[in-house]
Amino acid sequence: PQITAVTGYPLTHTFSPEIHNAAFKAAKIRGRYVKIPAASQEVPLIPDVIKKYRIIGMNVTIPHKESVIPLLKRIDPLAESAGAVNTIRNSPAGLEGYNTDILGIAASLASVDMDPKDADVLIIGAGGAAKAAAAYLKSAGARLSITNRTHSRAETLAEIFGARAVKLEDLAPEYQLILNATPAGMSGFEHCSPVPNTLFTKDTVVMDMIYDPEVTPLLAAAKAAGVRACINGKTMLIEQAAASFTLWTGITPNRDVMRKAFEARAA
Ligand code: ATR
Repeated sequence: PQITAVTGYPLTHTFSPEIHNAAFKAAKIRGRYVKIPAASQEVPLIPDVIKKYRIIGMNVTIPHKESVIPLLKRIDPLAESAGAVNTIRNSPAGLEGYNTDILGIAASLASVDMDPKDADVLIIGAGGAAKAAAAYLKSAGARLSITNRTHSRAETLAEIFGARAVKLEDLAPEYQLILNATPAGMSGFEHCSPVPNTLFTKDTVVMDMIYDPEVTPLLAAAKAAGVRACINGKTMLIEQAAASFTLWTGITPNRDVMRKAFEARAA
């Protein structure tokens, strides 16, 4: 079989094996997707593990998305600017790093006809997820603003991407796209929206990277305000998985099958 895998630590919460194994089955490929937990000191062994077990592709998740980069032969430019790799492809020329989280964001926005070019975009958050979003939205030609609970971190990120850092209390309803890249609203986390409810207009698209719950307090408030469209993290999760699958196998997987596998696991 063609072996694919995910590494990170811990891997208890990942839904990726179910999603990818369902896609392999539906595509009638003899493929397997397995979990390979790795502590930080084991990260340098990843290339040897990939070669020894002839793994064709590997997802990389928290906390190794940055630390795998120096181990790879070639890094895709978007992954490079995000400073994070979540997908490794074992190509004949060597190990290549990609960031399909970014492709997941792009596909999510495309699914509601949101073109970031020349749009005023607000990213909420200043961690790794926010950085990946900023790298993509900047490259797509958006006018970027970044807000964050800790303003100094928003300033640091804004500096890197030529964005505006806006304090939470200074936010105004001037955005065509608002994207939450924080865990605020995630089940088990503080269950509240990370921004005030006064930012929404009927032209706003609101995206939350969170998939549990499917309707976060941010998305509930946006819906109630009658925004143009709401997207949750489920689309992003399925689209990043689909993009990784295609990179490894050259095949477009069945999204419906992947979504059903996700739902079965989440239930
Ligand atoms: P990731 O790599 O997943 O983005 P991270 O680097 O820990 O994770 O960043 C988490 C982001 O979510 C940060 O922007 C964090 O804000 P701070 O910089 O102020 O810590 C934000 N965040 C986490 N919990 C939050 C909460 N309850 N409300 C608002 N923002 C929160």
